[in-house]
Amino acid sequence: MPRALLSIALLCLAAGLARAQSPEPPPIVKTRCAACHGEKGEAAGEDFPRLAAQHEAYLAKQLADFKAGRREGIMQRMVRGLADEEVAAAAKYYASQPVPPPAAKSELHDVGRFIFLRGNPWAKIPACKACHGESAHGSAQLPRLATQNVAYLERQIREFTQRKRTNDNEVMHSIAERLTALEARAVAEYLATLP
Ligand code: HEC
Ligand code: HEC
Repeated sequence: MPRALLSIALLCLAAGLARAQSPEPPPIVKTRCAACHGEKGEAAGEDFPRLAAQHEAYLAKQLADFKAGRREGIMQRMVRGLADEEVAAAAKYYASQPVPPPAAKSELHDVGRFIFLRGNPWAKIPACKACHGESAHGSAQLPRLATQNVAYLERQIREFTQRKRTNDNEVMHSIAERLTALEARAVAEYLATLP
């Protein structure tokens, strides 16, 4: 192969490899978000939501809700003073990150699986899959719940019940308040195992 052709081929290969790797995190992710959510959205601890592979539109909505005070909590301080472009870049970046490793199955796995797929007809709890999807991958309007941290999921269910999380027009409140503590824990443990 002539020398020039060979070097072009090598350049193309290098460009292809660079594209296959995850993009560099935007500066705001490195300086402000990574401390709690991780540089790849894997989360620095159980209490922080994993943002990797979450839907971009859902992330953007939550961030806008925190900014406007429709959803309350520590995040309100984190988004204060951020430009719209910085918020959009963080949502886009985290949404593009690969799914982190799922948790191992627990003793409550099958109880959680039943509730997710079938609900609890005796307590008039609808199946979670009806909205969040069979694999819990969600959609632009509905959060992905698969691979999420157990402690975070449990806390959100509790906060819907106590009406502390008030930014979803009450869809989740009426469902969450019918779950017992055991059912909430079981469904959270099941969700954490899904890829
Ligand atoms: C000091 C820790 C901390 C930092 C720093 C932080 N967050 Fe959060 N974030 C949280 C916690 C805790 C929650 C869960 C909500 C709650 O407890 O109020 C959360 C929730 C979120 C959610 C909602 C996720 C969901 O599934 O509903 C998004 C989106 C988010 N953070 C994005 C960001 C972005 C983007 C940054 C950087 C600009 C950031 N966070 C910085 C702690 C943090
Ligand atoms: C009728 C549709 C519907 C059903 C059924 C439903 N959900 Fe949801 N869920 C939603 C919507 C909509 C949101 C987004 C709220 C928002 O925008 O802040 C949500 C949000 C959540 C969140 C917050 C996720 C996050 O990242 O912060 C959790 C946890 C959750 N749902 C768990 C469940 C569980 C467990 C069940 C079954 C017992 C269930 N949902 C059934 C519509 C539904």
